[in-house]
Amino acid sequence: MKGLILSGGRGTRLRPITYTSAKQLVPVANKPILFYGIESLAACGIREIGVVVGDTHQEIRDAVGDGSRFGVRVTYLQQEAPLGLAHAVLISEDFLGAEPFVMYLGDNLVNDPLRPMVERFTADAPSAQIFLAHVTHPEQFGVAELGPGDRVVHLIEKPEKPPSDLALVGVYMFSSAVFDAVKAIRPSARGELEITDAIQWLIDQGRTVRPYVISGWWKDTGKLEDMLEANRIILDTFQRRVDGVVQNAEIVGKVVIEPGAKIVDSTIRGPAIIGRGATIEQAYIGPFTSIGDGVVIRGSEIEHSIVLEGSSVCDVGSRIESSLIGRNVTIYRSGTRPKSYKLMIGDRSDVGLV
Ligand code: TTP
Repeated sequence: MKGLILSGGRGTRLRPITYTSAKQLVPVANKPILFYGIESLAACGIREIGVVVGDTHQEIRDAVGDGSRFGVRVTYLQQEAPLGLAHAVLISEDFLGAEPFVMYLGDNLVNDPLRPMVERFTADAPSAQIFLAHVTHPEQFGVAELGPGDRVVHLIEKPEKPPSDLALVGVYMFSSAVFDAVKAIRPSARGELEITDAIQWLIDQGRTVRPYVISGWWKDTGKLEDMLEANRIILDTFQRRVDGVVQNAEIVGKVVIEPGAKIVDSTIRGPAIIGRGATIEQAYIGPFTSIGDGVVIRGSEIEHSIVLEGSSVCDVGSRIESSLIGRNVTIYRSGTRPKSYKLMIGDRSDVGLV
């Protein structure tokens, strides 16, 4: 059994972060999203993982390396353009060969362990097995219709009248039959080879596609709100650990303070994580906040947010919340006259002022 993690794509929904960086490397609870997927494949015994990469390949190679730190061997598969999830499978055929494989979307987080799914697939040997989850708004997802004999009979993208509340989660298992499917289908209206079309092709050919309904949470972190939600869920699982220096500060609840971090005259209310070498001074860090390595928060308040490494937030008058702040960003009060906002903000940034 091999693994295939998709880490190319456009990432349009996370601009401007994705203009300069791979969305799969945005940290959730201070760990890149992609690492959760790799760890999850490694935990179910998979040792050979192909990582599909696009324009951001160098950054992903630098972060993941040869995979040895995860106990796996990683092979990078370059996709010339983000031509769809099924296209990513198509270009991976030489790497995957005749072995069945787990395909994992690199910007997704799935809480359920994969091992039971892999064991079921191995015992049953269908052409494909797809992760599904009950959702409240199926019209916003790819939805599966199940038929007799525990089979998937139909897949529909964002249906107006959903046939079920079972949405496709970003984890799939395939036998090598999927290569016939990805070669047979044509690009969709948006110009991509869709994985739902490939699976539907297998169904239409009379192949068996099994559903696997998960019980735990799952998040597609492709948009800001979902990324913050994933951050919230993961921080909530943390145990308190204070390894940094704390002076005259109130640390409440599940808070992780990494070594080298310094908290002075401040309040930190968990769940929250403060990265290595970060400085928090005369500040308030509220629940569900991840502060990256080397970040400085001074004279400011922030909660329900993610701040990436090397950034600083100083003397901001109002509380910052529900925000994603990129790497090496500086936000500060200038104190000069005339009193005005001075901004240097990348394309498609989103700034809410009070
Ligand atoms: P998506 O989030 O569906 O697509 P995207 O990354 O292009 O994002 P957006 O819709 O915001 O523009 O992709 C799911 C995962 O699969 C993600 O990790 C990127 C990856 N991917 C590829 O590796 N190759 C592709 O051709 C596509 C479309 C996605």
